[in-house]
Amino acid sequence: MQANSARAEAALVQYLDVAQTVPQRLHQAMLYASLGGGKRIRPLLVYAAGELSEGRSLDNYAEASCTLDAAAAAIEMVHAYSLVHDDLPCMDDDDLRRGRPTVHKAFDEATALLVGDALQTRAFEVLALAPGNAEVRLTLIAALASAAGSRGMAGGQAIDLDSVGAKLDLLGLQNMHRLKTGALLSCAVQMGGLVAGLAPQEMRALAEYATALGLAFQVVDDVLDATADSQTLGKTAGKDAANDKPTYVTLMGLDYAQKQAKELQAQALASIDAFDLRADALRGLAALVVNRRK
Ligand code: IPE
Ligand code: IPE
Ligand code: MG
Ligand code: MG
Ligand code: MG
Repeated sequence: MQANSARAEAALVQYLDVAQTVPQRLHQAMLYASLGGGKRIRPLLVYAAGELSEGRSLDNYAEASCTLDAAAAAIEMVHAYSLVHDDLPCMDDDDLRRGRPTVHKAFDEATALLVGDALQTRAFEVLALAPGNAEVRLTLIAALASAAGSRGMAGGQAIDLDSVGAKLDLLGLQNMHRLKTGALLSCAVQMGGLVAGLAPQEMRALAEYATALGLAFQVVDDVLDATADSQTLGKTAGKDAANDKPTYVTLMGLDYAQKQAKELQAQALASIDAFDLRADALRGLAALVVNRRK
């Protein structure tokens, strides 16, 4: 996990080689948003699913490895953009992210808006220009666009903003979580599997794993918001209650939410039961997502 984390960091640095590029302020803000910490869960999922091909003969292993790096960097750029916008005053209005001032605080709101725009388009540029099989890269581009868009992350964020002060039922809450957070996590796993050239039934098993894990991720995010402190989280604790957001904790209670996260972890693990030791990285990530403290 540590090695892949470093690999993700290196891929981001490689594909965001913009420090000296004008307009400098925008590019520096893009680096600030992307490189300052972060657990890199989505890139780790890309690599973990990508590892499932190990031991099989890929036509061009080195090329596939570069495509994986591009996918890891691209999805993290989209994620970083989603955080920058999520923190804006017109959304969650947060001052703290990854233990530092949010982009609109460290820079300004217009820059934060443009950082999001620019990180998102850079992500697709990276995928379009990466080495590797063109058909695979086209599928990666479509998958990421769909996961980030109105039927995925952006759609989930719209439901989130629409739900302030509202009482969603459990299905409505699950749907929101699956879209705003689950879609990108599922996409990460799917991207890895696509580069690995997995068979359709293996992709289906991965999709089941990712659906359970994606929901678990946001359930745990809700729990941590209600139970951890800002120092540990690196973002403002208690923000969901302060913003009157429906969450797993406010709707179902802390106990239920914590049990549900464990249950979803078990579901994720059961989905990839048929995989051999090659899936151990995915198993480890399921534990990391559910047991994390930040
Ligand atoms: C936070 O994501 C936003 C959600 C989707 C819940 P992460 O918890 O992965 O944030 P970083 O990247 O580690 O900062
Ligand atoms: C955000 O959910 C999901 C995104 C798409 C960014 P939250 O609003 O709960 O994420 P945090 O808690 O601010 O990281
Ligand atoms: Mg939010
Ligand atoms: Mg938020
Ligand atoms: Mg949250």
